[in-house]
Amino acid sequence: MKKIAVIGLGYVGLPLAAAFGEKREVVGFDINSKRIAELKDGVDFTREVSREELAAAGGLSFTDQLDDIADCQIFIVTVPTPIDEYKSPDLTPLIKASESVGKVLKHGDIVIYESTVFPGATEEVCVPVLEKVSGLRFNQDFFAGYSPERINPGDKEHRVASIMKVTSGSTPEIADEVDALYADVITAGTHKASSIKVAEAAKVIENTQRDLNIALMNELSMIFSRMKIDTHEVLAAAGTKWNFLPFKPGLVGGHCIGVDPYYLTHKAQAIGYHPEIILAGRRVNDNMGPYAAAELVKAMIKKGHTIAGSKVLVMGLTFKENCPDLRNTRVIDVIRELEDFGCQVDVTDCWADNEEAQHEYGISLIEQPAQSQYDAVFLAVPHREYAEKASFELRQYMKGDGVLFDLKGVLPMGEADLRL
Ligand SMILES: NC(=O)c1ccc[n+]([C@@H]2O[C@H](COP(=O)([O-])OP(=O)(O)OC[C@H]3O[C@@H](n4cnc5c(N)ncnc54)[C@H](O)[C@@H]3O)[C@@H](O)[C@H]2O)c1
Repeated sequence: MKKIAVIGLGYVGLPLAAAFGEKREVVGFDINSKRIAELKDGVDFTREVSREELAAAGGLSFTDQLDDIADCQIFIVTVPTPIDEYKSPDLTPLIKASESVGKVLKHGDIVIYESTVFPGATEEVCVPVLEKVSGLRFNQDFFAGYSPERINPGDKEHRVASIMKVTSGSTPEIADEVDALYADVITAGTHKASSIKVAEAAKVIENTQRDLNIALMNELSMIFSRMKIDTHEVLAAAGTKWNFLPFKPGLVGGHCIGVDPYYLTHKAQAIGYHPEIILAGRRVNDNMGPYAAAELVKAMIKKGHTIAGSKVLVMGLTFKENCPDLRNTRVIDVIRELEDFGCQVDVTDCWADNEEAQHEYGISLIEQPAQSQYDAVFLAVPHREYAEKASFELRQYMKGDGVLFDLKGVLPMGEADLRL
């Protein structure tokens, strides 16, 4: 059995390495030495893989030393693919990881990319780096594959093995080999795409479709709010039709849904097509934070609150519920907008790491918010610990006639003052 190296042990790489590690020898490689030290101690801060699961992955070892992956024959790259401040793809981690792999690449090896990219990135960006650094020739000396990841952090039902996986390879034979490799650990089965580009495009449109559907719900929410109609009630009614899709309005953060469409639009623009619908959806979703803050402020004014100096408690900072991931959270847009209005904002989050919140956003998380302190409570991220609370418990944080904003509509109908 060929030995695997997984490059980048984050939300995607670690569960994958652990799944393969139950069946064969796998070396997990990451440039973050602290992460490697924690994993060697059986600790996964992303909470995706438990200590028991790590122990069950008997074939899995961890390293931050490139030499330790030199004898592997299959390299699976799962590094981040973020966007820069201009919302253009930042391929630096992908290129750096390809340089590392290029240094240890040998005849017959296969490099499989899992990071989300635009169609063409594997063969146009990564393979040339591998060729340059290794001095080997593509599809003669070494081969490539692309198999996008579809995991959903925090979701204990849809996990790496139970989600059907799309596979592809740079030649028909390699496509078969890549497919068989994954079929060995993915109990839900595999779908072999006809080319690497098709597999890359499939992943990026999955997230683009989701982004656009949420954008439509957000636009509807803004229209219905002006008409004094509750969007959730409209959706419950429309949802009784068999083919109405169950999307809800909300903030679109994280490093997938809110980021990946920009990879597609970047490539589209590079080949002379100016995408309209995809970017319109991005604009709508990126404006939801300031919009939600303004709605809260309006409701506070209507109740007679003075906004300058008012105290608002924001519950939840992570980009989604039941997950500690703070990257690209759009709750920050709500907080910044409220601060711009002159509100004093306290933030609490039972899943987020205080140090990371400080480092990323300069926010000091409140561990236990005081009772009867706030003019408004903004339930931004309904982690299960918050969603289990009754509305009267949330109202206890407020003094007198405060405003309770249930962003995602998790409280029973009519119990919050506002929702999207
Ligand atoms: N998290 C998700 O829900 C999800 C789902 C599907 C696909 N994806 C995609 O998978 C990819 C990885 O995402 P993630 O959430 O696991 O990222 P992550 O940030 O959690 O993990 C990436 C890891 O890669 C390491 N790394 C960075 N550069 C490296 C290098 N040059 N060499 C070795 N290690 C390096 C980092 O230290 C980090 O531990 C991205 O392209 C993402 O879009 C993510």
